[in-house]
This record gives sequence, structure tokens and C-alpha cells, in this order.
Amino acid sequence: MAGIGLRLPHLMEIAATCPPVEWVEIHPENFLANPHATELLLEVSRRYPVSVHTVGISIGSAEEIDLEHVNRLRRLVDAVDPVLVSGHLAWSTHGGAYLNDLLPLPYTAEALRVATDHVRQVQDALGREYLIENPSTYVGFSTSTMGEAEFLSELAARTGCRILCDVSNVHLSGHNMGYDPYEFLDRLPPGAIGELHLGGFTPEDDDASPGAELLVDTHATPIAEPVWQLYAHALRRFGAVPTIVEWDNDLPPLATLLQEASRAGAVRDQALESHHAAAR
Ligand SMILES: [Fe+2]
Repeated sequence: MAGIGLRLPHLMEIAATCPPVEWVEIHPENFLANPHATELLLEVSRRYPVSVHTVGISIGSAEEIDLEHVNRLRRLVDAVDPVLVSGHLAWSTHGGAYLNDLLPLPYTAEALRVATDHVRQVQDALGREYLIENPSTYVGFSTSTMGEAEFLSELAARTGCRILCDVSNVHLSGHNMGYDPYEFLDRLPPGAIGELHLGGFTPEDDDASPGAELLVDTHATPIAEPVWQLYAHALRRFGAVPTIVEWDNDLPPLATLLQEASRAGAVRDQALESHHAAAR
């Protein structure tokens, strides 16, 4: 399946026009205090498979998970009955406050233990599998004792959660951190990849290294050509994993998003066809 991140400005249009798209993904936090939008979402969920992508569950926090928030989400999740529920390998709460950012964690045995406990708690509270997404990375920790691919693979093995592999995040983190994105994908366990994301990024000057360029995960632009190529590699390695095109800022008309999803479907078909032909 190739689909789109469905944002509130497009919700009424998609409910009214039912355009051809294989599935959609929503951020549940946008619906918790919006009964009208929830009604429309339930209408959409009767016509399309829906994925629920949480942005407020902070599995990387050293402090406890906010289970009240997870229980609020569960009521929506149970009503929508999504095909997948996912969140991020990040932390976004501190001292009970919600920060408007997905912040990185060190890849250490201690952080792995905390993240493992939290993913188990979330899966128990939701009564479902909870996929974890690789972050967009701009800084590393000198205390890290393992790589991100290793950390995610171990988290999946310990909790039974699968991995949401954001291919654009792999590309931009590889650029920002100086590693090969293809090698990163090759270190992830193919059987544990449950979903792929594609999103746009924006190059910005890197204040820390004059003359260098940082790729910032803005979700405000079309998918870049190198990411389409990396996506084809991911499909050859992981198989026909369902994919969402994410676009959150400077939101274009729905038709533009549908074109990007349609291209994702075409890249998938071509990558898998050439892969199968090579295997014959
Ligand atoms: Fe993503």
C-alpha cells in the first residue's frame, strides 16, 4: 500500500470525494479535542485502511510514560481500528511538560532498557503492537555504545514491536551524521520492518560548521530524488512494505500529495518487478 499523511485541512475533502489512495495515516493528537474531525475520521476509516501515528508518546523519556494520555489515545484507536499504530524513537516530555519536539536519546544499554519498558507499557495499554520510527538526527552522543540500527533492531527483538523505517530520515541522518544510508538499511532486520515513511526535507546552513549544509526534516517539500532511489533499495530489501508520504508544513493541495503517493506505488511496483526478474 502507498498512501498519504492525512492532515486536518484535507479531511473534509477526502471524506467528501473519496479519491483513489490505498491508505492514509493520521496523528491522533489532532483529534482528541475535536469531535467534528473525529466524526469525519470515522467516516474515512470506513472507506480506507488507516494508520495511527502518535506524536505525543515519549518512549525515550527517562521518566514514566503518561498512561493517561495513552488511554485517551486508546479510545480513539479502538474506534478507528487502524491497521497500524506507531510512534517515534525519541523523547518529548520532561517534568510533566510536553515539548513541541522529538528529541534524541543516547544509544546505550540503559536507554535501551528504558525504551524497552516503555514500548511494552504502551503496547499493553493500547492492546496492540506499537511500531517505532527511526528519528531524523542532527547530533550524536559521545556516550552512545551502539548504532541506531542496532538499537532499533534490539528494541524490536525485545518487545515484539516492529520498526517504522522513515527512508527520508535515513537519508538525511546519513548526510548529517556522515554515514552511508544504504548500509544503515542493510543493518535493519527485514522481517521487523512494518511500515515505511517518505517525507520532504530542507537544506539549511550548518551553524556549527561554516560552509556545510544540514538537512532538516521539515515535511514541507516534495520527496527528493536520492530518497526515491533509497526507497527502491528499501523495497528490494524489505519487500512490499506499506508506505506513507508525509507532508505537514506548507501543505499543498490534496492532489499533489496523491501524486506523490502514486509515484511511491509506481516505484514500489518497478523495484519489486526488477528485483523478482533478477532473482529468476
Ligand atoms: Fe516519518
